[in-house]
Amino acid sequence: MKYPPINCKYPHMLHGGDYNPDQWIKNPEILDEDIRLMKLAHCNVMSVGIFAWDALEPEEGKFQFEWLDNILDKLADNNIYAILATPSGARPLWLAQKYPEVLRVRANRVRNLPGERHNHCFTSPIYREKTRLINKMLADRYKDHPALLAWHISNEYSGECHCPLCQDAFRTWLKQKYGNDLDKLNYAWWTAFWGHTYTDWSQIQSPAPNGDTKIHGLNLDWMRFVTHQTLEFYKNEIAPLKEITPNIPVTTNFMGTFEGLNYWEMAPYIDVISWDNYPQWHGNRPDWELASDVSFVHDINRSLKGGKPFMLMESTPSMTNWQPVSKLKRPGMHLLSSIHAIAHGSDTVQYFQWRKGRGGSEKFHGAVVDHCGHENTRVFNDVTEVGKTLEKLDDIVGTTVKPEVAIIYDWENRWAIDDALGPRREKKDYLLTCQSHYRPFWNRGISVDVIDMDADFSNYKLLIAPMLYMVRPGVAERIEKFVKDGGTFITTYWSGIVDENDLCFLGGFPGPLKKVTGIWSEEIDALYDDDVNFIVPEKNSTLELNDEYEAKELCDLIHTETAHVLARYKSDFYAGRPALTVNEYGKGKAYYIAFRNNNDFLDDFYEILVDKLSIKKSLDTKLPLGVTAQLRTDGENKFIFLLNFAPQKNIVDLKQVEFLDILSGEKVSRKIELPGYGLRILKKVL
Ligand code: GLA
Ligand code: ZN
Repeated sequence: MKYPPINCKYPHMLHGGDYNPDQWIKNPEILDEDIRLMKLAHCNVMSVGIFAWDALEPEEGKFQFEWLDNILDKLADNNIYAILATPSGARPLWLAQKYPEVLRVRANRVRNLPGERHNHCFTSPIYREKTRLINKMLADRYKDHPALLAWHISNEYSGECHCPLCQDAFRTWLKQKYGNDLDKLNYAWWTAFWGHTYTDWSQIQSPAPNGDTKIHGLNLDWMRFVTHQTLEFYKNEIAPLKEITPNIPVTTNFMGTFEGLNYWEMAPYIDVISWDNYPQWHGNRPDWELASDVSFVHDINRSLKGGKPFMLMESTPSMTNWQPVSKLKRPGMHLLSSIHAIAHGSDTVQYFQWRKGRGGSEKFHGAVVDHCGHENTRVFNDVTEVGKTLEKLDDIVGTTVKPEVAIIYDWENRWAIDDALGPRREKKDYLLTCQSHYRPFWNRGISVDVIDMDADFSNYKLLIAPMLYMVRPGVAERIEKFVKDGGTFITTYWSGIVDENDLCFLGGFPGPLKKVTGIWSEEIDALYDDDVNFIVPEKNSTLELNDEYEAKELCDLIHTETAHVLARYKSDFYAGRPALTVNEYGKGKAYYIAFRNNNDFLDDFYEILVDKLSIKKSLDTKLPLGVTAQLRTDGENKFIFLLNFAPQKNIVDLKQVEFLDILSGEKVSRKIELPGYGLRILKKVL
């Protein structure tokens, strides 16, 4: 099975970048040169007009589209497509000057000055009216333009506004959520704590550093409201586009695991997911470890629409200008990190930015075209190589993967964990923990979906929910059914603690997960950074762990009810108490990992489970450290991406199986070499 391309007009991999011709209107020769260079770099798409409102509407109601007509015509004449942006990410100054309500108010209730970008209220009726109008004008004007491929809505939606309009909207949202019943809200937020009972809706205020920060139910509902309001703003933006250009897909660029918006709430309203990816390569840990963490995020983006290919909307062709150290990508890394996205389901490689501007804070941010202005640069060559490579991947457009393993990474759960005080203020590390459970699969070339707790679990063999602190209604029941039907479920310490309102479960932790895990947790011990305990595997247990493993940072002190003990703590007053258990439940099993572990444990533990459950690997071979194999398939052909994130060469043994190396066109089998930061794309007919 294949998904249709992002736009059937152009059924190929897309390659291009953010293009700001509005900064170069006074330099027409540069704009002509751009087209020549775009073709030379094998680029076929440009994201245009992201911050161009100013250039489109220099005075209220006075529009000038001619420059954009000219750019789009030129692109079309040269077979380059446009992902046309709506410009709400940055407003013209006149707009904020005339209508101050469009400016954002910070949590401390101070209104921002005009300027910057991403500095607008999501509620302001005036801002909504103005964005809707400019979007409608763009859609009317370009609806039949041959260059128009997709809509890029705004830019990196983020942030929150605490203005009076937003406060009102928040109260209205709460009234609806709690059925107009203030008692219900008071109970859900546990407002008797510190005597915070609301007696009138008007008393409710968004969290503020100089007001309330400790009512966790309020904090959670505020975060939910921010997502809701951003989504409402987005819906208002896309309404005219959907009406005038119903066949043009819309996307908005996400930011990976950005904590401020629950992307799962937004995904259903977006035609194709896109995201901006800026890893800090060549830093103080191995690139392959970072690559595994980035893979995790790519997999979120693919999972957000059930496996549908996504877009790598932004990445840098060289370095950024905002990371603490903006190191250049080492030779090979640009192609590798670009194909990395394709390997996980992206159908595009796009950059910020096409050309470096002359001024402003992003003038030193990496770009395809540097200030020197010509093509004779290392970066330009790297980009061209990506373009040429993507041209060989037509067959992969629209393909996907159906993993047998899923990891739950849930935004609301993260909000609640981050808000919790205790058992450790630092190193609660929800995201890092999920990523460390992901790594053993990456090392073995096993595809993984990264889902939230509301997703359908039924198609997986193995479901992993690290630190499932919050358990929303119905989730435990669905996990029970999953296990009863034969699934294997893994959860850890600090799970089953609070409900959807951040209220602790009564009757013992892990709350609604007690039945399926067959344990109860009495206390949790937080260790200082240098403390270490160990766990000792049980002799003759059903799990053949043969080593002792470290237990660090968090040790859950549990009792088994129906579960069996697989390992016990070695020392301290809880020596001998269970540290790892398994509960047989229906046809499946639920494991409880009570301690925070290091990678050695997870690697061994999942090695055993992968074997026991016969989890399919992309390639039936043992991969050297630093190399992953990721899979995409159309149901008839398998495309295997072998990616070497190690700086040194690595050998992969394909054994007797013969593959087609798509890039070289050669047939390969047995031992093949991957140079440092090298890759291969192999095709196998099923
Ligand atoms: C973000 C923005 C871009 C640009 C890049 C720089 O992703 O969307 O406009 O600022 O960062 O890395
Ligand atoms: Zn506001």
